[in-house]
Amino acid sequence: MTNNYNDLYHHSIHDAEAFWAKQAEQIVWDSPWQQVLDSSDAPFYRWYPGGTLNICYNAIDRHVDQGRGDQDALIWESPITGQDRRYTYSDLQQRIAKLAGALQAMGVIAGDRVIIYMPMIPEAAMAMLACARIGAIHSVVFGGFAAPELAKRIDDATPRVVLSASCGVEPSGVIDYKSLLDQALTIATHKVEHCLILQRDIQPCDLTAPRDQDWEQACAAASPVACVPVDANHPLYILYTSGTTGRPKGIVRDHGGYAVALQWSMQNIYGVEPGEVMFTASDVGWVVGHSYIVYAPLINGSTTVMFEGKPIGTPNAGEFWRIVQTYSARALFTAPTALRAIIKEDPEGEHIAAHDISQLRAFFLAGERSDPDSVRWAQKHLGVPVLDHWWQTETGWAIAGYPFGVEAIDVKIGAAGRPMPGYAVRALDDHGEDVDVGELGNIAIRLPLPPGTFTALWGDRERHRQSYLSQYPEHYLTGDSGIIDADGYVHIMSRIDDVINVAGHRLSTGGMEEVLSNHPDVVEAAVFGVNDATKGQVPLALVVARSQYQGSEADLVAELIQRMRDELGPVAAFRQCALVKRLPKTRSGKTLRATMRSIANQEDWNMPATIDDPAILDEIAADLARLRVR
Ligand code: COA
Ligand code: AMP
Repeated sequence: MTNNYNDLYHHSIHDAEAFWAKQAEQIVWDSPWQQVLDSSDAPFYRWYPGGTLNICYNAIDRHVDQGRGDQDALIWESPITGQDRRYTYSDLQQRIAKLAGALQAMGVIAGDRVIIYMPMIPEAAMAMLACARIGAIHSVVFGGFAAPELAKRIDDATPRVVLSASCGVEPSGVIDYKSLLDQALTIATHKVEHCLILQRDIQPCDLTAPRDQDWEQACAAASPVACVPVDANHPLYILYTSGTTGRPKGIVRDHGGYAVALQWSMQNIYGVEPGEVMFTASDVGWVVGHSYIVYAPLINGSTTVMFEGKPIGTPNAGEFWRIVQTYSARALFTAPTALRAIIKEDPEGEHIAAHDISQLRAFFLAGERSDPDSVRWAQKHLGVPVLDHWWQTETGWAIAGYPFGVEAIDVKIGAAGRPMPGYAVRALDDHGEDVDVGELGNIAIRLPLPPGTFTALWGDRERHRQSYLSQYPEHYLTGDSGIIDADGYVHIMSRIDDVINVAGHRLSTGGMEEVLSNHPDVVEAAVFGVNDATKGQVPLALVVARSQYQGSEADLVAELIQRMRDELGPVAAFRQCALVKRLPKTRSGKTLRATMRSIANQEDWNMPATIDDPAILDEIAADLARLRVR
């Protein structure tokens, strides 16, 4: 393999099949693929058709077979409960094989869906791998979503079984996962056959027989199951992400391409070797957690650290550095929002100085735009490269970044890095022409996308085509706008749709508007993201109440805030809301969210030429000023 980024990237674009055939040799296949790339159904492409493998074998069993059985595979730290545990590759193999047996005993077969609604505990990772082991398709739902959101995913994925735990722990207290699950199962129209529930000491729950089964008992009674070879394109998981409406998109990823891409990325992007430790501070409910807490470090034969805590407050802003020190982590990966929270608590970096982080080689950021001040702070205090990288639930791994394990290319603060192998990134105007170098454009990627990227939207080929493939022929539309500069670095500036990014969590403002508009006293609502010093963006809602509404603004706002928690979940961080007389619209009736957002952020803005009634914006400005004072 070359140690020159330019050569590597050039090879990946101009001889993609040879490039990805070579990388696929790092993975253990049960039978070889017949073709590297199948383009016969373009614009839908398939990597390694005809090949069979199992990603769980590649993540777990092969390392036992190759002599790593006694090495730590997963280390878990839970500062709130005061617990920690370590699992070797052999431990994980035994537990996952038994859990897979328990799933089979409940009737789960290859192709069945299994929803995983679990906190950040090792059993969540075991659950994912146990599904993969038998070819079942897992769908992890993030714990910060409320019961109706879980119900939507249950109805879309139609799982045979749900895996959950009695509770999770957050700094605010114990989260009763089981009762949220029970509520969701009542709301959902699809009926699941069984729930397998892990009882946590901190708060066990009641089980409803015969639907609910106890995790430990079921595993104890189960026979261990070996990995089942599946087709390279067999779906491994569905991960729901926010689109522009309240209906989430089920991103589908396969076994083969994903295993190859993640294996490549571990050593070449993150510079982590087998036997070394990676600490990714995210959540298994998000794509970063799927790829870099669970699958990639294990496929690479590394050790992953799973952390059921927060960057601050559990107990302090030194937790990340303590973990790096304790386990000699070589790479630390988190979201800029976590870094900002740490900087706010520890502006002088005293917690860093108090720890020995000399084993750390690089610090990785993704999930939202990295602000330059935070990057400079991290560079100064950590003394290692601070590397942004840009990716999406859809891609599963970095589209642009720094190939740290290949070559130390210059870091450009403000840029997300250079395109990663296989990603032909372009900045286009509305007609599909490249914008000038350094100009803002819609970021699109020439098809085919590399292995590891999504293969489908679950059950909705037309939405896949419409959302991503229809605007520019033979290109994938990323939904982000940005700049490609003269040195080829990609700068991601903002979304081109109504998706916002709250503390690294991708959320739909359209979905939030639906929640608010469904309130009987609300005529219409506009939600947009406003700047927030820690979370990057937070949602702000302006709501028009029906004329007959007699109550106070404070009462309705309190009800709406509660409603958002109950319907969408606490993760929305929805706290800013005001009643307004009317919303500014264009003459064709489109709400002017971008203008309101600029006013709210106290940025310069121009009066839209198409506005129906300019006077409304003065009212809105006054309402937003009132909200700022509150
Ligand atoms: N299960 C249940 N509830 C959850 C949850 C989970 N897994 N994760 C978050 N929540 C809840 C929190 O308890 C909080 O509820 P509250 O309003 O009752 O306090 C709410 O959702 C918002 O949580 P969070 O986004 O964590 O905000 P915070 O204000 O508690 O903490 C930060 C701020 C910056 C420390 C935190 O946002 C953080 O760690 N961010 C990093 C996020 C991240 O890693 N993203 C990676 C995506 S790639
Ligand atoms: P998600 O699918 O939740 O991972 O969110 C993906 C979106 O987060 C992207 O489309 C971007 O809008 C944003 N994003 C992720 N990483 C970065 C980054 N490094 N810089 C800027 N935006 C980012």
